[in-house]
Amino acid sequence: MCGIVGIVGKEPVAERLVDALRRLEYRGYDSAGVATIHDGAMDRRRAEGKLFNLEKKLAGEPLPGTIGIAHTRWATHGVPNETNAHPHFVEGVAVVHNGIIENFSELRDELTAEGAVFTSQTDTEVVAHLLAKFTREGMGHRDAMLAMLNRVTGAYALVVMFQDDPGTILSARFGPPLAVGHGRGEMFLGSDAIALAPFTNQITYLVDGDCAVLTANGVTITDFAGKPVERPIQISQAAALMVDKGNHRHFMEKEIYEQPEIISHALSHYVDFASGSIKQKAEAIDFAKLRSLAISACGTAYLSGLVGKYWFERYARLPVEIDVASEFRYRDIPLSKDQAALFISQSGETADTLASLRYCKEEGLPIGAVVNVKESTIAREADAIFPILAGPEIGVASTKAFTCQLAVLAALSIQAGRARGILTEAQEKELVRHLIEMPRIMSKVLNLIQPQIEQLSRDLSRFKDVLYLGRGTSYPLAMEGALKLKEISYIHAEGYAAGELKHGPIALIDEHMPVIVIAPHDRFFEKTVSNMQEVAARGGKIIFITDEKGAAASKLATMATIVLPNVDEVIAPMIFALPIQLLAYHTAVFMGTDVDQPRNLAKSVTVE
Ligand code: F6R
Repeated sequence: MCGIVGIVGKEPVAERLVDALRRLEYRGYDSAGVATIHDGAMDRRRAEGKLFNLEKKLAGEPLPGTIGIAHTRWATHGVPNETNAHPHFVEGVAVVHNGIIENFSELRDELTAEGAVFTSQTDTEVVAHLLAKFTREGMGHRDAMLAMLNRVTGAYALVVMFQDDPGTILSARFGPPLAVGHGRGEMFLGSDAIALAPFTNQITYLVDGDCAVLTANGVTITDFAGKPVERPIQISQAAALMVDKGNHRHFMEKEIYEQPEIISHALSHYVDFASGSIKQKAEAIDFAKLRSLAISACGTAYLSGLVGKYWFERYARLPVEIDVASEFRYRDIPLSKDQAALFISQSGETADTLASLRYCKEEGLPIGAVVNVKESTIAREADAIFPILAGPEIGVASTKAFTCQLAVLAALSIQAGRARGILTEAQEKELVRHLIEMPRIMSKVLNLIQPQIEQLSRDLSRFKDVLYLGRGTSYPLAMEGALKLKEISYIHAEGYAAGELKHGPIALIDEHMPVIVIAPHDRFFEKTVSNMQEVAARGGKIIFITDEKGAAASKLATMATIVLPNVDEVIAPMIFALPIQLLAYHTAVFMGTDVDQPRNLAKSVTVE
């Protein structure tokens, strides 16, 4: 995680570095810092907490200089305070880092034994000490950089400045992303192209094992042995304008409310509205020939994949192996070439998901990527890209990316069903008809339920623990509901398969434990209602999220019943996602948490 940026140029850089950091704040916001070189002296400002603390500091004590590097931190080693904030300085060397130096402990011992004095608890500081040592020993800056890269292990994007060379920035990538921006008489570095969008749209993406040296006039790239490599310049589509909240209090609220429009846009990429069929999208993946599909992702993206598993197995009779990427990558899963692999990621940079992708690639599987950021590493390394077209998602808690991932997976599973001869043309048309109706129903639901949910959130905010239950595709949705609530309101929540209730969690049920039951009137409804009875019999408070038919069929007393329109099973997960998103959102707002930047989290998780 962490966001890094660097500028070497002709105009003052401090303000522009902070502007770029603002675009990178989604990567971490524990602390931030900027360093520049001016009149032969290197100086820095660092501040604990959100970026505005650094801005305040810079307003009081500005930093002049036309070369600089900056960082917004998501703490891995060392508490988030000013001392641990980057840039780290050692003897005229400044370093910012995203990732983890895995052998930092042994390097630190070695350097300490040689007399180095460490001032922070970070793993990053060993990089600055190594560079200082190699320079002291007489190496040039580039050689010192290569020597340092040959000593550190782990995952890193590093950006470095030397006080005695105010015209050069050095950088290296091994894991977390790094993009070089080409300006006129100025060069830029950033964790992504969005950070650099106000400065340039000409981007060179570094790949793992690249070391880049930037001056105002250009960049030279080598591997870690110093051998020159060529990387193309691409024109980035990243929007130059900072996305704003419009009339909404938070990005999360805006992103919840823009779902009908955005999903309609995403669907138009996959659905031929005129013929009522799915557009053929997967040249690199021949669904007809597959024995099974492997899906891997993290967090909310994993939960969308879990819904996808139900669809691929039901509509295409295609067995799906799915796991969270942090397990998938290490499980030594036996894979064969008659399988394909699908990776789901909003950011397209999640370290574990990327590692799972590379594992499958080595095994020779065709790779599909369901991503939001089309220029991301996961997108670039896939054989087939399935964009979710959700637009920038700024709120750390994923909302519109989740429903857009679902829409894309629904379309792909229908396509697979047709390709495998499981769905008839008429069945495809019927499913597509429901998909086409979805944006209108989403709009209706958002207007319908908002006042009730706001009221209910006040009640929910009084509890310490919440249980979510569901069956079928409502089971991953129950887990998503619990994830959303805990990450932004900090209320402890768990999502369970309703049938698992009596295998353990029922022991928790009492009047202090609200149970949110997600149950459209589908094939599983009666069984879920039986589980609700078991909760009611033990004094549990039920919040029942159902549809009109479900509400009419259930006679149970509840703390609240949220009634949605009756919809087909294929769109129910997207429709039922709305109340669980709004419930988490309003509960968090009521509790006064930082909804868009909840504590300890970051939007892009580029470390294991
Ligand atoms: C939760 C959330 C996270 C992400 C996860 C994967 O609201 O946003 O759980 O879904 O970190 O991120 P991506 O999709 O970028 O790979």
